[in-house]
Order: sequence, then C-alpha cells, then structure tokens
Amino acid sequence: MHIVFASSECTPWAKTGGLADVVGSLPRALVQLGHRVSVFLPYYRQVAKAVPSAPVVLPSVTIPFPSYNRFVRILDGGLKEGVQHYFVDCPEMFDRESFYGTPSGDYWDNAERFGLFSRAVIEASKVIGVPDVFHVHDWQAAMLAVLLRSTYYFDPVLAPVPVVLTIHNAGYQGWFPPRTMETLLLPWEMFTFEALEQDDTLNFLKGGIVYADAITTVSKKYAEEIQTAEFGNGLDGLLRMRSGDLFGILNGVDYAEWDPAVDPHIAAHYTAEKLDGKKECRRDVLHAFGLESVAEETAVIGVVSRFATQKGFDFIVEIMERLVQEDMVLVILGNGEEYYERLLTEMAAEHPEKVRVQVKYDNVIAHKIEAGSDMFLMPSRYEPCGLNQIYSLKYGTIPVVRATGGLDDTIDEQPAGGGTGFKFWGYDSEAFLDAILRALGTFQNKGEWTQMMKRGMAQDFSWDKPAVEYARVYQRAIENRN
Ligand code: ADP
Ligand code: GLC
Repeated sequence: MHIVFASSECTPWAKTGGLADVVGSLPRALVQLGHRVSVFLPYYRQVAKAVPSAPVVLPSVTIPFPSYNRFVRILDGGLKEGVQHYFVDCPEMFDRESFYGTPSGDYWDNAERFGLFSRAVIEASKVIGVPDVFHVHDWQAAMLAVLLRSTYYFDPVLAPVPVVLTIHNAGYQGWFPPRTMETLLLPWEMFTFEALEQDDTLNFLKGGIVYADAITTVSKKYAEEIQTAEFGNGLDGLLRMRSGDLFGILNGVDYAEWDPAVDPHIAAHYTAEKLDGKKECRRDVLHAFGLESVAEETAVIGVVSRFATQKGFDFIVEIMERLVQEDMVLVILGNGEEYYERLLTEMAAEHPEKVRVQVKYDNVIAHKIEAGSDMFLMPSRYEPCGLNQIYSLKYGTIPVVRATGGLDDTIDEQPAGGGTGFKFWGYDSEAFLDAILRALGTFQNKGEWTQMMKRGMAQDFSWDKPAVEYARVYQRAIENRN
C-alpha cells in the first residue's frame, strides 16, 4: 500500500509536541511492514535551515485563491529509513519565526496557510504518485479530506482514494470566520451544521471528521472520551454519529530515540539489568538545573511539557506550598502560555532550593530529565495519548499521572504495589498531592521502588502493534470507498 501522510509537524525538523514524534516514527514502522510511505511537511524556516538545499521535485504548483494564485514548490526532503519526505515550499506562508503563531496569538492567516498546504499535498500527489490512502493529522491537514470530497469530487484519479484522519488533540480544531469559505474557494452550501459550520465558524477539524473515511485517535480511552460532552469540545455529537468509523490506536514510541541504553543525550547509559548509570544521569540533570548539593536520598521529580491548561499546571501550582515541605526537588522544563511561564518562574524564585524551571524548548534537557529523575508528573486535565509517561517508563522514572486518556491506558497502579506508576482521578489537586505522597512513600522502600522501575522498563510500547492496527484501518477505508 502507498500511504501519503500530511502533517504540520514531523521530527526531526518541526516539533512542538507529540504529533511530531508520531509522524516521525509511525511511517518507519509501516515501511517495515512492507508499505510505501511519503510524508508531506510545510517547509518552515526551521526546516529550511536544517535542509537548505533540498532538491526541487516540482518547481511550480498552482494553488488558486479568489483573486490571485499562489505558487508553491515541492522539495525532496530525502529518503530516511525507507520513508520519503516532501516539503511544501511557500515562503510567504511558511518562512516565519514559528509554526503556528507568536506568544501574542496565532498567525492571522492560518486558514490560508494550512488550506494551501492541504491543497498542495493533493496536487503534488497527482503528479508524483496517487496514493492508496491519505493519512492526515489534526486540524492543520484535515482540510485535505474536505477538499477531496468537494472541490475535487469529480477527479477520477482521486475519487477512489480514502482519507484517514487522526485526531491527536480535539482541543485544537482550527476555527475561522465564515468568509474563510470564500478564501479557500469552498462552496457556501457546505457551510452548514451537517458539514463545516460550528457556532458560525468554519471548523477545519469538524470538516475532517465529516468527510474522512475513517477517524482514529491516539488511545482507546480518548476515543471514548471525545464522544462525551466533557472532552468532545463541541464535536462529541458528531463523533458519536461516526463511532462506527472511529478507532482508538495507542501511540507507539521510538525506542531508537528514547531508550537509556542508547540515548546520546544523557550522561550515562543504563538498562533494567544494570541501573548504575541512572545515578550519573541524576547528577547530570541536577547539575543542569544548578542543584548540585541535593542529598542522595532526596527524590528528583521531573516535568517536561508544553505550558498549556491541558497539562494541569494549575494542579501543580495549587499543591506547591505543600509539596516543597517534602524531601524532594522539582525540575520543570517547558514553554508556551505566558501565564504559566510567569507563574512557575515566580514559584521557582520563591523556593530556589526545591524548585527550578527552565522556560524553553530543549530536546537535550528533555532527555536528561527523563533519565535523571526518580518520578515524572503528568496531571493533565485531558491527554489524548501522552508520550512522556511512556518515555518515563523506559527510563525507570516512575510516572504520577491523572487517569485520563492515554495516561490511564498506559499507567497501572495496583493498591498493593505491583503496578508501574501512580494515578489520581477527578479534577482535584488534593488527589494529585495524595498520589505524589504515595509515590514518595514507596520511594522510601528502595526494593519495592526498584521493582516498580524494572516493571516499567520491561513494558513494550514500540510501534510494531499499532502500525498493524493502522494498516488494518487503511485497508478497511480502501475497501469501504470502493
Ligand atoms: P503534547 O503533544 O500534548 O505536547 P506528548 O506527551 O504527546 O504531549 O508529547 C510531548 C513531546 O514534546 C515529548 O516528546 C516531549 O519531550 C516534548 N516536549 C514538550 N515540551 C518540551 C520542551 N519544552 N522541550 C523539549 N521537548 C519538549
Ligand atoms: C497531542 C496530544 C498528546 C499526544 C500527541 C501525539 O499533542 O496532546 O496527548 O500524545 O498529540 O499523538
């Protein structure tokens, strides 16, 4: 099968979160199953810096707008471990400081940017090779499904090609003003509640859900959750209607990148059989946060995250005064919403012996925290899958998580010990504190703690199984379409 991926993020070139990790690694697993995969990514400034002289595949693809055309180039991003990459080059859209916007808000023309991206992937595929299935990710590529089943409806080569949409996060849907219909040359008849309209906006993700042949999301639990009002963000009714075509497939992770036995970013390598190296990693991460004098028996608690309401930082803020009374230090890496950047920086300034924050995006520090911490916090309000808790398991760093979405599916707490981490339910900072205190209590018992680490390290969340599940969904979509 030939599968074309369209995504706004892909490691190693463009990443703000887990979407990039998934699009950077799932295709490789599909190739190993014998499929052919091409991945399309916008040629952002950051990508151009990394791959400045990508060969031109198509010198000019016309993307029409109401009173003008834009012309994009398709560049060859190269074949990496069997996966072909293409970049969509349109400097006026993508040669910018960041991918989606600045701290003061999203770029005003994101509908045009990602509408153009989707259309460019369709046009390029018609020339380079029509796939058996399109696999599009999140709202940024969802317009591809809408275009195929509207503007491109009568195209004989595209008619039999199904689209699979993966929802990585239903909290971001791409809402735009109604006039965007005209910008993207979409027929007004589609601006209805049954199709693209929601609360008088054009909703990209909704369009994707309506027109995709199959929809997947990134854990079984989240697939159930988004069909409820609490997690569906206004799309739960539609998702219930489409529940026969909705599949929860838990993300895999890339153990070539996230494994303490081979990780090039950490101070020492270690395995479940030979854990000594983790001590060196602990020293290293404490050094990176200027906490060299922390005692041996003090627990190191790590956080790596986008600073967003989704991630439950208000819970961390609420319990801080109580947490700093415990024998622990908290090291936080993250960036995002200014509100949390300021709040967490202030808290660190109040407790410099106990809490340190680095406000930035830094892949190396992220690896160091995974390796050097004893515990890892993810109190997310919702979490479609979550990758950091899965990385933590591999690094013998015990996750303390809120039991939601993929966090609930991947972490197991047993009342009498025997699990792989600690969980709490409800929107309740007391319950969160309680889970941390349970973890700190178990941490005192080195034997029990080490057993828990080893159980986590033995878990296998590689892509082998999920890739087979995706292939099944593609096959089903192809059969249904024909
Ligand atoms: P989400 O996609 O919602 O942000 P995930 O847990 O799926 O959450 O994935 C987050 C990914 O982004 C992980 O690979 C994590 O290490 C990385 N990450 C998040 N914030 C940072 C940061 N500030 N610096 C480096 N890596 C980060
Ligand atoms: C999203 C989700 C996260 C998930 C990631 C990759 O950003 O917030 O939970 O792991 O996508 O699917």
